[in-house]
Amino acid sequence: HSRWRYVKYALYAFVSGGMTYSATKVYMARHPPVQAPPDTTKKTLVILGTGWGAISMLKGIDSSLYNIVVVSPRNYFLFTPLLPSCTVGTIEHRSIMEPIHYITRHKQRAIHFYEAHCTDIDPATKTITVEDQSDIKGDVSKATLKYDYLVVAVGTENNTFGIPGVTEHACFLKEIWDARKIRTKLMDCIETATFPGQTPEEVERLLHMVVVGGGPTGVEYAGELHDFLVEDLVDWYPDIADKVRLTLVEAHPTVLPMFSRQLIDYTESTFKSNKINVQTGSVVKEVHDKHLVVETHDKQRIQIPYGLLVWATGNTQRPLVRDLMAKLSVAQTSKRGLLVDDYLRVKGAEGIWAIGDATFTKYAPLAQVASQQGIYLAKAFNRLAKLEEENAAAGRSTVDIATSTDPTDEDTRAKIRPFNYTSQGSLAYIGADRAIADMPIFGKNVSSSGFATYLFWKSAYINLLFNTRNQSMVAADWVKKTLFGRDISRE
Ligand code: FAD
Ligand code: NAI
Repeated sequence: HSRWRYVKYALYAFVSGGMTYSATKVYMARHPPVQAPPDTTKKTLVILGTGWGAISMLKGIDSSLYNIVVVSPRNYFLFTPLLPSCTVGTIEHRSIMEPIHYITRHKQRAIHFYEAHCTDIDPATKTITVEDQSDIKGDVSKATLKYDYLVVAVGTENNTFGIPGVTEHACFLKEIWDARKIRTKLMDCIETATFPGQTPEEVERLLHMVVVGGGPTGVEYAGELHDFLVEDLVDWYPDIADKVRLTLVEAHPTVLPMFSRQLIDYTESTFKSNKINVQTGSVVKEVHDKHLVVETHDKQRIQIPYGLLVWATGNTQRPLVRDLMAKLSVAQTSKRGLLVDDYLRVKGAEGIWAIGDATFTKYAPLAQVASQQGIYLAKAFNRLAKLEEENAAAGRSTVDIATSTDPTDEDTRAKIRPFNYTSQGSLAYIGADRAIADMPIFGKNVSSSGFATYLFWKSAYINLLFNTRNQSMVAADWVKKTLFGRDISRE
């Protein structure tokens, strides 16, 4: 009897200990302690961006070692892998946003955050120009900042390939406002289709949703839209639900060229059974307000009327990065992004690093690459500061990875290892509770697909979300969607 009593007490102690720990964590997350000001005697490290690369670096860097400044037009981090789910309301958009101040306020020393675009980098004077381009501007909206070290993590922008009409008429899917715009336009098309007196041809056009680009963004969006149509639209708009059509246009002969053949076939057959019309080998040439012009594989030009057009044809470099590449033209010989060495130093520049999609390396432009590069740079910068301290204390001349123009600097190389990427595989959601995955297991690629992979996809992404707050919000959205369906109001 008494043994059970002890077990019961141990259980109580365990549960109440766990609850106290969680409550303290939640409280501390909401009420960060007093923070020391930035140490301006330290070298100024400027980080451009608040995306995957920048945030991973910011989380790992020791803020007592540098005077850290972050510049980005976005005062939050966006968890892009779940962005397609926001286009139809499977997940609410705020659930995948993490305010930057929730991160910076928890650092040991304060970090300056400026919500602004960096519009110019001058490697000669080691300065950057920053501009507030938001709606509300003060008397001062442009400034010049000095840096000792600069990390460029500004990502990319949508590639339109100069195709006329794309910017004016299509929706992109890269930022949170894109997802909101798609959700609003989708509901607008549906409501407009039910307007009294609408002709059958116009109803058909308004209810034709077209996605251009069969990469992971286009495929995941098509999957989410399919789910919305079959899980929600049929109940709330029974008269028109069966008239909604979904077409995906892709220039290559298949969708998802980066996945294994088996998963490409699986995706295409799943789309077929979900009545998603996949038009491969077709290149969009022009976009008009109500139709697009497509060149098919046999060089025929056809017109496709659409109500909603989502443009997911990949990315290109931002003007800031292109300007920097032009300034460093001798060393920057690629047009596809900043060339960096094994330590992620921008070639031809002194004191500038670049990570993520802004670079052109042997790695794909992926969140996992940007994130690993950010983690690597945080460690390298922490180590660099310590090395400098050690050298100063020993009276040795500083062996500085940042200012050394000699990449074969043996002493530094021995202490800061080059960046090494470990792929964690590729995952994508394709709709109807199915996902696909190419995973490296013991050096071999293992492909999996279906419902179990979908559960794995869900658990992987909820684990990858940076904090408990966002994890709870996403989990709650999934439960809410299952119980009550998606919200069909037009914002
Ligand atoms: P970003 O994350 O794009 O961050 C760039 C930052 O720079 C932003 O904060 C931006 O506001 C800021 N910035 C822009 N201009 C300036 C300027 N002039 N000055 C200062 N700051 C600036 N990858 C995966 O690995 N797995 C996935 O499942 C996956 N899903 C995706 C789903 C979607 C819909 C999309 C669009 C992408 C997805 N990706 C995925 C790709 C992944 O999001 C990118 O590879 C990753 O975001 C790159 O990180 P980054 O830090 O280089 O750039
Ligand atoms: P992408 O570059 O991977 O795919 C774009 C597709 O658009 C290509 O297949 C291309 O052939 C097609 N295209 C280009 N121009 C066209 C035209 N005029 N007409 C018809 N088709 C055209 O771009 P995406 O999907 O936006 O992905 C960008 C990056 O983000 C990639 O590296 C991708 O791997 C990553 N990503 C990863 C995800 C995941 O792992 N689940 C999800 C989303 C993006």
